[in-house]
Amino acid sequence: MKRVLITGGAGFLGSHLCDRFIREGYYVIAMDNLITGNIKNIEHLFKHPNFEYYHHDVSKFVFVPGDLHYILHFASPASPIDYLKMPIQTLKVGSLGTHNLLGLAKQKMLEC
Ligand SMILES: NC(=O)c1ccc[n+]([C@@H]2O[C@H](COP(=O)([O-])OP(=O)(O)OC[C@H]3O[C@@H](n4cnc5c(N)ncnc54)[C@H](O)[C@@H]3O)[C@@H](O)[C@H]2O)c1
Repeated sequence: MKRVLITGGAGFLGSHLCDRFIREGYYVIAMDNLITGNIKNIEHLFKHPNFEYYHHDVSKFVFVPGDLHYILHFASPASPIDYLKMPIQTLKVGSLGTHNLLGLAKQKMLEC
């Protein structure tokens, strides 16, 4: 079974992607720190056997056990209002978060 990591999985786009990938038969790992997202967006998936949720800030080191076939990086504050409220977090998730996930992608590509 293909496994996909979706960062920002409790956000607007991320939660719809979780639904879509579950429907398509993937194993879905949603990762989010809920800085702007809402757990209610994905709580209907918690009972699904092919779904996992990690509460984690992707600006910090990211570890996911097992194979990963895709990483979709949708974690970020996403509106001008949020950028002004959280400028440092916005910069960190776009830079350090992307760097961490590229590192994870490289590690998983080597393992697969
Ligand atoms: N919504 C749109 O129409 C649209 C259009 C173009 C681009 N985008 C981009 O897509 C991405 C997602 O947008 P959205 O509308 O779903 O936003 P959203 O705020 O609904 O979702 C973003 C999610 O990322 C999470 N998040 C933020 N920082 C995090 C971190 N450090 N670690 C883990 N999780 C973190 C938030 O808690 C939230 O759940 C953004 O980069 C946005 O700029 C969105």
